[in-house]
Amino acid sequence: MVAALAAMALAASMPVKDRIYVSSENIASEESMRGLYERWYALYRRDDDPSEKEKRFGIFKEEARAVYELNEGNERIQPRDEIKLNFHQPSQYYPDNLPLYVDWRDVDDVLTSVKTQGNCGSCWAIAATGAMESIHFLKNNKRTNLSIQELVDCSPSPNMGCDGGRASKAFQYVIKKHGIHSSAQYPYVGNGSHCTTPSGSRVMSIKSYHYVHRCNEKLLMDAVGHAPVVVAVLGSNTTEYKRYSGGIFRGPCNGTGGHQALLVGYGTTRSDDANNPGVKYWVVKNSWGESWGERGYLRIERGHQADGGLCGIMLHHSVYPVDPK
Ligand SMILES: *[C@@H]1O[C@H](CO)[C@@H](O)[C@H](O)[C@H]1NC(C)=O
Ligand SMILES: *[C@@H]1O[C@H](CO)[C@@H](O)[C@H](O)[C@H]1NC(C)=O
Ligand SMILES: *[C@@H]1O[C@H](CO)[C@@H](O)[C@H](O)[C@H]1NC(C)=O
Ligand SMILES: *[C@@H]1O[C@H](CO)[C@@H](O)[C@H](O)[C@H]1NC(C)=O
Repeated sequence: MVAALAAMALAASMPVKDRIYVSSENIASEESMRGLYERWYALYRRDDDPSEKEKRFGIFKEEARAVYELNEGNERIQPRDEIKLNFHQPSQYYPDNLPLYVDWRDVDDVLTSVKTQGNCGSCWAIAATGAMESIHFLKNNKRTNLSIQELVDCSPSPNMGCDGGRASKAFQYVIKKHGIHSSAQYPYVGNGSHCTTPSGSRVMSIKSYHYVHRCNEKLLMDAVGHAPVVVAVLGSNTTEYKRYSGGIFRGPCNGTGGHQALLVGYGTTRSDDANNPGVKYWVVKNSWGESWGERGYLRIERGHQADGGLCGIMLHHSVYPVDPK
């Protein structure tokens, strides 16, 4: 298991042949957008029901424009005229040779301790630091708690400190600042305070981040095989979710509110007999301390792709940071 994961982690830094780029010309007209879509479809969705294809085109157009605008505001990272559509590119294992089981908890030091957000809506910052901590270890072999509080205090709007935010915007902040401090340098206090610059240099940085296309279970499995991925768990403030204490969580999660957390693996429970097939699950690192769930982790039922997954776990694009230094 560990060897297979290590091999996959290395695969993450290998060049990918099939890159899709989006330029201003690509998004200029319906026709050019269609050309881009055909290429994307052939790469990601070739096995889909063809009747879905037209429906997805509408969604794709919105996503392509959003990604283009995002990159446009980030010229430092990408050349202006050839902007990479920064989505997860499937590995050679996708879609039919994915490992049956991935769990980054089994690989020493990739994950840091489970954090406790307390009375502060900092789940997005904890998920973001967790993802960066993992690639910092995988690439640089350094295990460090990164500063959640720096993201809470300093990452600009639309992030709102303890009132919520988005991991993708936290990654943008780290890219712009050329790094993030450690938690020892800028400790967590669990409330919003003024952004300060601690002494000592930033401990790591990232160059970019990639989205994982929504509602595609195998693609998300492929992505988490490379490194942990930030996901949103929707409706996670139901009583059942709050009181989860172990096993495979199967809902309900139809409360309101979105909660960002770190996806760290997937698997299937053992099947006893044909009438009782194994249950497919995701493994999620939460930020409600170690006494919640399975030592701070959640196993939540996997599947329900057409509905965006249980608790909408695949309903939005997931995101992970890349190119740590
Ligand atoms: C990270 O912080 C936890 C406390 O949440 C601490 O127990 C642990 O030793 C720290 N890890 C590192 C690598 O500093
Ligand atoms: C934030 O938390 C720190 C440490 O617990 C505390 O000293 C400070 O008074 C708090 N600030 C606010 C505005 O609540
Ligand atoms: C929430 O889910 C439960 C169990 O699946 C269901 O009984 C209930 O009607 C749902 N509530 C809403 C508001 O959808
Ligand atoms: C769930 O969280 C949202 C905000 O994220 C809040 O408005 C809502 O009242 C919460 N519901 C429960 C049942 O706690």
